[in-house]
Amino acid sequence: MTITSAPLFTEFRLKDVVLRNRVAVSPMCQYMAQAGMPNEWHHVHLGARAIGGAGLIVAEATAVSPEGRITWADTGLWSDAHTEAWRPIVSFMKAHGAVPGIQIAHAGRKASANRPWEGDDHLPGDDANGWDIIGPTGEAFGVNLPRAPREMTVADIHRVTRDFAAAAKRAADAGFEWLELHLAHGYLAQSFFSPLVNTRTDEYGGSFAGRARFILETLAAVREVWPARLPLTARLGVVDFVPGEQPFAESIELLRLMKEGGLDLVDVSHGINTKDAGGKVPWGKPAFLGDHAKQIRNEVKIPTALSWGAGEAHLANELVATGAADVVMVARAWLDNPNWALDAAKKLGLADPLSVLPAAYAHWLKTFAPPVRAPK
Ligand SMILES: Cc1cc2nc3c(=O)[nH]c(=O)nc-3n(C[C@H](O)[C@H](O)[C@H](O)COP(=O)(O)O)c2cc1C
Repeated sequence: MTITSAPLFTEFRLKDVVLRNRVAVSPMCQYMAQAGMPNEWHHVHLGARAIGGAGLIVAEATAVSPEGRITWADTGLWSDAHTEAWRPIVSFMKAHGAVPGIQIAHAGRKASANRPWEGDDHLPGDDANGWDIIGPTGEAFGVNLPRAPREMTVADIHRVTRDFAAAAKRAADAGFEWLELHLAHGYLAQSFFSPLVNTRTDEYGGSFAGRARFILETLAAVREVWPARLPLTARLGVVDFVPGEQPFAESIELLRLMKEGGLDLVDVSHGINTKDAGGKVPWGKPAFLGDHAKQIRNEVKIPTALSWGAGEAHLANELVATGAADVVMVARAWLDNPNWALDAAKKLGLADPLSVLPAAYAHWLKTFAPPVRAPK
């Protein structure tokens, strides 16, 4: 059956930005930078997926400071040289129809790790590539990340908030049109929100208000500098699948406050705050956060993006059609196929699947579609 359109391939407007479809490339750390500088690798990785038809591309977790990197090879945005290095990559994505986005992050107690294919564990304290790490408390994550962070002072907290704002401003200067704050996966911001990690007794811990304070203050600082006409979004770990973690109701309440504070969309994810979290996540269930995203969308009345096991075309389409997500974030399937959007358009039976690609690419695929004829 051929169809003229499918919900996944309809436009999505948020503020002054229009996505050509609701297929996004989810942020994916490449661990291929030197001193935080993006390079040809990032240009090709992100650029290929713009040519491949993505509506939105969110560049990987990009550190707001050197200490905020997961590994020594993370990208960064802590100097104007980083802004300049991102600029041509951003401009390429934009020129080929994708909205260029970036996720800005601080890894907290999970920082100073080896690249995944070199061990995925904390670098030893005396390793030349490593550095001292910080967290809401002095407790280590554990297992492969055994190094204890230094408990942050209030001055440290304010400095990291300023680092987020400075990175957001640089992201806008580089031409990015979609900003995602990384508030998930057990990195710094998420670990502040987690009652299992954040046992501080000052105004940045304890009650819901205390644990939410770092996130809300960071959002407010970023809101000041990020252009009002562009989407300000966040990836939040809304559940953690571990007893004692923040209840889902707290995440909903936090999102209400964030919406009041200027958040335009939430990218629904999970926590991974403690070493026990990973094993309990229902990894095998397709789109296992779909119900959470739908509830957030209905109750908070904020647009949602959704990832985790949503990289099958019919499922992605259904998540949009049934109101679980406004945008579907796909990661691994894009690695498998840089033309994922074209493949999805074919699988969904779009009458003109090539229309999801930039005109030049579509033209050549049409021209040389079988039976082959010689170019004029
Ligand atoms: C190689 C790789 C790198 C990733 N890096 C990030 C990252 O930088 N930031 C983030 O929030 N999630 C990261 N993730 C998680 C993905 O964005 C995505 O949420 C997850 O893979 C689930 O989507 P999928 O089922 O389509 O792969 C990464 C995933 C992969 C496979």
